[in-house]
Amino acid sequence: MTPPALVLDGVTKVFDDGTRALDGVSLTVGRGELVTLVGPSGCGKTTALRVAAGLEPPTSGSVHLDADPAAVSFVFQDPTLLEWRTATANVALVPELRGVTRAERTERAHRALEDVGLGDALDKRPRQLSGGMRMRVSIARALVADPELALFDEPFGALDEITRLSLQTLLQGIFARRRFAGLFITHSVSEAVYLSDRVLVMGPGRVEAEVAVPFAHPRPPELRFTPEFAALAGDVSRLLERAGGEPTTASESSPSGVTTARGEPATASEGSPSGVTDARGDS
Ligand SMILES: Nc1ncnc2c1ncn2[C@@H]1O[C@H](COP(=O)(O)OP(=O)(O)O)[C@@H](O)[C@H]1O
Ligand SMILES: [Mg+2]
Repeated sequence: MTPPALVLDGVTKVFDDGTRALDGVSLTVGRGELVTLVGPSGCGKTTALRVAAGLEPPTSGSVHLDADPAAVSFVFQDPTLLEWRTATANVALVPELRGVTRAERTERAHRALEDVGLGDALDKRPRQLSGGMRMRVSIARALVADPELALFDEPFGALDEITRLSLQTLLQGIFARRRFAGLFITHSVSEAVYLSDRVLVMGPGRVEAEVAVPFAHPRPPELRFTPEFAALAGDVSRLLERAGGEPTTASESSPSGVTTARGEPATASEGSPSGVTDARGDS
């Protein structure tokens, strides 16, 4: 059996000011597996991702990354594109920094942009692109490195609902073709269930529960409207409530299956005081 791409083993993170952001988090991401972390704002999701990426040392516990560090990609909520560069030149930046020839990196950037449906926008600058298109460029930039492990920190959290659903479908199709290992943070229950093989439910500082998602890849967008999908989303919502979080919307835990699949406003649980004060309460 090949080793997993990423293992966090009993990771605790206490920041200098005493905030205990993670309190014994263990998780594994297998090769070709996409794992989501769901939990309310402030429960430690970003910290877990930063520790996984080696951007932040754990206070105790260990991190094992079994991937070439050059093949670890990030996608954040802010696409962080360089305004003066075209879409192609933004995507080509990473291979450029690694000394790939101009012809080769342009070719690779074009392929990555075509993969995310931006074949018609190769020479556009970020300000000429919509929010969803900018996020597509950001995903293309992550894919151009041919990642073994891709880390996503609420990449779709700032997008409107329609755009968000179409980017979920896009990413799901890319994942089904490329099968990188992925750790994807979201506070949307339906996004987590649609995209991932396993959903890890976080409460303040801890992984409290895990839900396996058995649907085969590729997953059609209509999967979101099935009773099986609604049942799993309901399970995750209930576990989230029990873990000390709250479902992103009341409709997430509705048994009907129709409202569940509609998603929710991107910022539904932002600003909710519960997760933030809970995580700080330990300090
Ligand atoms: N650099 C830091 N210094 C001190 N506290 C931090 C730092 N980064 C995050 N925190 C705190 O750690 C907790 C978890 O934060 P974070 O991982 O960003 O949560 P999430 O991504 O789930 O919203 C929060 O209470 C946050 O305020
Ligand atoms: Mg965060």
